[in-house]
Amino acid sequence: MTQYSTLDKVKPKTISDLQQMKQAGQKISSLTAYDATFSALMDQAGIDVILVGDSLGMVVQGHSSTLPVSMQDMLYHTQLVSRGRQQAFVIADLPFMSNATPERAADNAALLIQQGGAQMVKLEGARCDIIQFMVQQGIPVCAHLGLLPQSIYQLGKYAVQGKEDNEAQRILAEALKVEQAGAQLLIVECIPTALAQQISEQLSIPVIGIGAGSHCDGQVLVVYDMLGISLGRRPRFTKNYMQQEDSIFNAIQAYISEVKECQFPAQEHSF
Ligand code: KIV
Repeated sequence: MTQYSTLDKVKPKTISDLQQMKQAGQKISSLTAYDATFSALMDQAGIDVILVGDSLGMVVQGHSSTLPVSMQDMLYHTQLVSRGRQQAFVIADLPFMSNATPERAADNAALLIQQGGAQMVKLEGARCDIIQFMVQQGIPVCAHLGLLPQSIYQLGKYAVQGKEDNEAQRILAEALKVEQAGAQLLIVECIPTALAQQISEQLSIPVIGIGAGSHCDGQVLVVYDMLGISLGRRPRFTKNYMQQEDSIFNAIQAYISEVKECQFPAQEHSF
């Protein structure tokens, strides 16, 4: 008899745990990871959610956008991250065009879940037909609204979304629609604090923000940004935790604790 049976294994967090955190007013901490070492470090530091973001196209592969990232890339990095985590909830991004049709989205989501070990997949935009189809197949879905990096060629630049009243109304309406379509989590990127607050209050699913102010149910950052090692200009909504800590592990713990205690993001990181 081995010392540890499968029953002794640490169980990963579930979507119900995240839902309960929202209801209890406990903030959800999240970071991106792309490999097993960072995943294990974050997991041991107590992160709630690890996002295998297609931001890997920029910070790992060195592209100028997320558009070149393939399903093969996403599957590979999701497998690495899943291998490193024990307790964290893992979400994997559906990369550009991998969700062009409902059937294609469901097939690719199945790969990320079955072979990658993800517990949920994320897709950009209010693609309610696709969300609904995936949910009908039993696939847990995280929606992503506000700034949509996969639409960068349509947008022209990475900029705050929803500053104008009509734009803000559209994003709020989209948030309500993706929830109705069955999304169980929502990420909002680069939108004004007041809009993110309205969305978080009106939706019953957890809303995780990046550049969306402190009123969201949780926060996510690209890990290289919070370690201050991303190339180029530091986006306003990020914070370099290596300026106050002497190790990556301590920096991750400091981030988690600032998110939990509503100290991050401060006003200087918000729009
Ligand atoms: O790809 C990514 O890392 C993301 C986050 C910025 C939310 O989608």
